[in-house]
Amino acid sequence: MFFHCKLVALILVMTLDGQVYTGEIYGGHVAAPHSRPYMVLLEQHMGNGKIKHCGGFLLNADFVMTAAHCQAKSYSALLGVHNFKQTNEIQNISVEEMFPHKEYDPTEYINDIMLLKLSSKANFSTNVRPIALAGQGDGSLPKSCIVSGWGRASIDQSHMSNWLMEVNVTLIDHKGQIKKNSYCSQGETGPANGDSGGPLVCEDEKAYGVVSTSSKPSSGGAVIYCYTKIPEYRDWIDGVIGHH
Ligand SMILES: *[C@@H]1O[C@H](CO)[C@@H](O)[C@H](O)[C@H]1NC(C)=O
Ligand SMILES: *[C@@H]1O[C@H](CO)[C@@H](O)[C@H](O)[C@H]1NC(C)=O
Ligand SMILES: *[C@@H]1O[C@H](CO)[C@@H](O)[C@H](O)[C@H]1NC(C)=O
Repeated sequence: MFFHCKLVALILVMTLDGQVYTGEIYGGHVAAPHSRPYMVLLEQHMGNGKIKHCGGFLLNADFVMTAAHCQAKSYSALLGVHNFKQTNEIQNISVEEMFPHKEYDPTEYINDIMLLKLSSKANFSTNVRPIALAGQGDGSLPKSCIVSGWGRASIDQSHMSNWLMEVNVTLIDHKGQIKKNSYCSQGETGPANGDSGGPLVCEDEKAYGVVSTSSKPSSGGAVIYCYTKIPEYRDWIDGVIGHH
């Protein structure tokens, strides 16, 4: 059966000038403060003074991973954030160089993965620590996956969540048919606008995916969320980090 669907990037389209509401990352809950010390809140400076936000995650003292569709003119990587209205103890590091995947396809959001090199090293602490990436693996679906981010918390909300939210998702076996080189989940709960670029964390607390797109099946039914499948990109990731 063919799967027709419209891909929608989980890009946060709102700026931060309005009020920020609390709530849930579509069906999730507020994360225990600093329980995910690898989480990065990316400020995207778009030029013309506009700021947008994406998620990201820390791989080592120099590199953050995010989605390629989170490209911007420049960035500030905010580390150690829980409530992003309280920014007194965070590390705010600018990005020196961005490495979107060379074959990123902005129409279909294929190869939606990007590495960002920080302009100075992150200082590790209880609130700031890197996450390990899943290895190439045996092709089986990872279990017990969680997505986290500061994206908006319900369909009718137009603002980001103040606090880091998280939600459990169950991956479906789509054999690459929904989207190439991706893990996907389906349901009423999942990542939302502004959660793009954040990690899909599964077994052994390793990062397996990067939040990329959501789509509504044309036949109806629950929303499908897809995550760039990190195990397929290990050579590319190790190459970029190794050369820089
Ligand atoms: C990391 O620690 C060093 C030494 O204390 C300090 O100079 C630097 O500003 C810190 N970096 C950040 C991003 O806070
Ligand atoms: C981070 O630093 C940039 C550049 O100095 C600044 O424009 C931005 O407001 C800072 N963000 C926060 C949350 O402090
Ligand atoms: C979410 O997953 C975690 C880790 O597998 C589990 O401990 C927790 O009970 C799950 N929560 C829900 C609401 O299913």
